[in-house]
Amino acid sequence: MQDIVPILLGTAGLLALVSLLPPLAQRLRMPFAVLLAAFGVALGSVIHGAAAIKGLGPLGDFFTALRGFDLTSEAFISIFLPILLFETALAVEVRRLMEDIGPILLLAVVAVLVTTLVVGFSLWAFTGIGLIACLLLASTLATTDPAAVIGIFRDLGAPRRLTMLVEGESLLNDAAAIALYGLLLGMLTGGQEADVWKATQAFVWSFGGGMAAGWACGRLMCLVVTPMRNLPLAEITLTVALAYLSFILAEHYLHVSGVVSVVAAALVVGSVGQTRISPETWGGLVQVWRQLGFWGSSLIFVFAAMLVPSILSGLSLADFGLLMVVVVAALVARGAVLFGLLPVLSAMGAADRVSHAYKAVMTWGGLRGAVSLALALAISENPDISLEVKRFVAVLATGYVLFTLFINGTTLRPLMRLLRLDRLPPAELAMRNRALALSLSNIGESVQVVARDYRIEPALSQEVADRYARRLAEIGELTQGPSHGLTERDNLYIGLSILATREEELYLKHFREGIISRTLTEILTERAGWLLDGVKTSGLAGYEHAARKAIKFSRQMRWAMRLHRWLRFDRPLARRLAIRFEALLIQRLVLRELTAFNERKLAPILGRTSANELGGVLERRLMMIEQALAALKLQYPDYATALQRQYLGRAALRLEEAEYRTMNAESIISQEVFNHLERDLDLRRRQLETPPRLDLGLDLAELVARVPIFQGLSQERLRGIARVLKARLALPGETLVRRGERGDSMYFISSGAVEVLVPWLQEPVHLGTGDFFGEMALLDGQPRGADVRALGYCQLLVLDERDWRRLIERDPDLKTHIRNVAEKRRAPAPVET
Ligand code: CMP
Repeated sequence: MQDIVPILLGTAGLLALVSLLPPLAQRLRMPFAVLLAAFGVALGSVIHGAAAIKGLGPLGDFFTALRGFDLTSEAFISIFLPILLFETALAVEVRRLMEDIGPILLLAVVAVLVTTLVVGFSLWAFTGIGLIACLLLASTLATTDPAAVIGIFRDLGAPRRLTMLVEGESLLNDAAAIALYGLLLGMLTGGQEADVWKATQAFVWSFGGGMAAGWACGRLMCLVVTPMRNLPLAEITLTVALAYLSFILAEHYLHVSGVVSVVAAALVVGSVGQTRISPETWGGLVQVWRQLGFWGSSLIFVFAAMLVPSILSGLSLADFGLLMVVVVAALVARGAVLFGLLPVLSAMGAADRVSHAYKAVMTWGGLRGAVSLALALAISENPDISLEVKRFVAVLATGYVLFTLFINGTTLRPLMRLLRLDRLPPAELAMRNRALALSLSNIGESVQVVARDYRIEPALSQEVADRYARRLAEIGELTQGPSHGLTERDNLYIGLSILATREEELYLKHFREGIISRTLTEILTERAGWLLDGVKTSGLAGYEHAARKAIKFSRQMRWAMRLHRWLRFDRPLARRLAIRFEALLIQRLVLRELTAFNERKLAPILGRTSANELGGVLERRLMMIEQALAALKLQYPDYATALQRQYLGRAALRLEEAEYRTMNAESIISQEVFNHLERDLDLRRRQLETPPRLDLGLDLAELVARVPIFQGLSQERLRGIARVLKARLALPGETLVRRGERGDSMYFISSGAVEVLVPWLQEPVHLGTGDFFGEMALLDGQPRGADVRALGYCQLLVLDERDWRRLIERDPDLKTHIRNVAEKRRAPAPVET
């Protein structure tokens, strides 16, 4: 066993040095990875070049320790990769990833395959090394590190969907490339035959199996973590354990891809787990993972880069030539995918249209990073691989990673300047100036007030205020010019984008305050995301379209409806309706907050006309929501009260907690007392967590009693009728009977209202509680004569044709009554019913 002290000295010393790099990267405006690699190479040269590092005390020991570091390939893969991948996957917004999973998966898998094949075959053509070894090397280079491009996209404010595409692609291409790498390695070391069909099967098995294993591990963790609420130390520890366990279980026990399993487990934690892990813990958890990811990637980089001087010291011209082959082949492969596949995806509507400038940046910005290095290092440590191949992989992989970092990485920003991607569009520039002008004028005034409070000499404060006034004047000139003014359309566009973003923030704020659940927050923030995407693609029309889509009945609701109708399984429907109720209530609250925000913050920046227009847009949304809410309340008034009571209770708890916190901060109550009070609060909070159960109110006896036609019948007859009737809930706008279809049942309205669209009448006929419809088709054996649509939520009683015949045969009075009503309805003039 190695002595532990040198290992600790080496690692801790490296971490200390690495921690100095982020501030430097910020100052030099360089991607962090580039600096890290440069630092590693420099360190490697010092270690390998200087013989006289002894006698320097701890510093000498540090260098000796680094030189003696002997990390096996197993250690590289097993220690660092799970951490790196888990961290990246955790940071991905799973919901958005899932929305575009098709194109992302396609892009990731296709890009990996294309790169591996193009680079592999190009190398094979130029060297005497076997094809499998060439493909193996190419597979290590097929992963891209998105950090640099994503960072720049964020600075530029690139469309969110594009950023997601790049982020998702690089996450899944890591998994795909590593799975492919595992297969090729097996072929190379195990002497398996290169059979394309078998390889494809093995790849699919390994990838799919890894997904399933990771998913199962993630779900299991969610089960275990649920009872640990508010115990951040335990909750976070469990996620760290999950990263390694999901990897080892898949890789060593199930023999499927371990890395894919880690990614899947992290995605489950990022989606389902978020609802199980307490909100207070979530922030801490993300922080811990960012920290671990930083350590992992920094150490991999430095370790690998340290080897560079010795690897490259024997670099021949031929090696250099091969490196150029890799550079060109990889660029061509990436360019082919982005310029060839992306437009196809956009044409199919599966991805946003991406401008050539963006595609060029994405091609050039395909930097390779820690994952490529880790894989290449693992090969160079593998005892089953020939020395020649090892050297080949080590030289080319390291050389290529360094090339992308030092050449592509440092020229990415200049390229963007060249493509004019670094400029704020005129609209945003004008917006920036207006915001600046507004805040400067506010600050100018506030400075005077502060100066008075602090008894600072007026001359001094005047000096500061003058400085602000001068800047204000400069900006004033900028905003005056006609080319810098904003048109009304620009204003509206900017205003809507701000409103949509603000809306998302408000939902998150209510979530953090414990007012709404995470499930609801996810649903609502997703809808706010639709609004933003809508604005970006087609302005006001896009926003309003997204708003209408957001209020429609969701796909889940329609499925729940089918379960209710076909299988009489009502729980999902009740749950969906409860969620809709809550969503509408919160949307109403947030829209009111947005209206105030528009008046207070946007009106001064965008001007009165635009603010009025934005106000109108919000008002229209509010009306839609009020209508939808009114329909629900009409049917379930008690539930509305129960929900509102619950919200009030939660808000009260939040106020109570804030009060305790202040008292604790002001030392009025001790920490112990505070903790005690917190526990009590926690208990009450939990009671308020479970939403009240929504009763669909489909009790047959009650519903039958509300239909006048059945009144006056004996108890026994009523019981008999109730046995053959089926209770059904109809949603507003749902078509219950369609003209021209065959009639197979008749409906009684126990509550609610429907409209009948009779072809020869101009106005629809309204039927309400106690009425019936659908009788004509049964009486005449003709197709349905009109469309019937639910106006609000309706409780209906449905009677099938067979039972209907039996019923009217036994009850001639009923038959006559139904026949009379039908006759009247047939009359050409509109009939009162
Ligand atoms: P049916 O033809 O089976 O399907 C459509 C139903 O609409 C029809 O039965 C009646 O129940 C109802 N309907 C048709 N015309 C009118 C009308 N003029 N007034 C009220 N209801 C009607």
